[in-house]
Amino acid sequence: MATQLSPIDKAKFVAAKQATQYVEDGMKVGLGTGSTAAWLVKCLGEMVEKEGLKIKGIPTSSRTAALARDVGIEVISLDEAKWLDLTIDGADEFDGNLNLIKGGGGSLLQEKIVATVSDQMIVIADAAKSVETLGNFPLPIEVVPFGWQTTKTLLEETLIGMDVLGRKVTLRMNGDAPFYTDEGNHILDMHLNRIGNARKMSLVINQIPGVVENGLFIDICDIVVIGYGDGRVETRDINEGSVEENRHDFVETENLFADLSD
Ligand code: A5P
Repeated sequence: MATQLSPIDKAKFVAAKQATQYVEDGMKVGLGTGSTAAWLVKCLGEMVEKEGLKIKGIPTSSRTAALARDVGIEVISLDEAKWLDLTIDGADEFDGNLNLIKGGGGSLLQEKIVATVSDQMIVIADAAKSVETLGNFPLPIEVVPFGWQTTKTLLEETLIGMDVLGRKVTLRMNGDAPFYTDEGNHILDMHLNRIGNARKMSLVINQIPGVVENGLFIDICDIVVIGYGDGRVETRDINEGSVEENRHDFVETENLFADLSD
């Protein structure tokens, strides 16, 4: 069945496809969350089915776990895996040092734990996620529901001394009700417009009682694979200091394209 992908979906797909080249038999692989990571899970599922790839997947959300099982990837828990070879995930923003904002899909806590215990973290993204300075995307903060309004006030007070261009903090909603994460927590989105010192921001926020984790991923990502709508892919490796370009052609009759939605 022929399927028309939008340029943005093509960009996400080619980034995911390129990243599968890092996945080898026997690996324990962290599976990210979001629309780009969903392409990856689909691609890996196809490799399991058609090429006999043998991996164990550690999902970063209930959503990803369901998709991974659906496409035939063996799913294990983080406690069973203990340590991972590789995590591949999307991002909401990445800067030149491959520091990230994540959590737009609300899974930042599991994503950060899984990425941190992986030998390597690869981000797959379309080019729109590339920024000079982090902060245009609202920074998600996972907080416990108990006293969340007090935690919000503490966050707002903390921002007074920080190098930011906005200080609005909003409770993430799911329709008319507060959004709940897989861990039963809320998300506060901080609309900062610019984060002058992301490392300091991350450390300071995590000191506030009620905060479980923040969406800044500092010194965690090793490689970013950037996809473009015309099939080009750019791979930036922060450890090697290298940039590589590739291209993927589309076979629009592939089953992969038939039913993916996120
Ligand atoms: C999920 O909580 C996020 O961290 C995602 O990785 C991020 O929002 C990127 O999602 P998309 O690939 O859908 O843009």
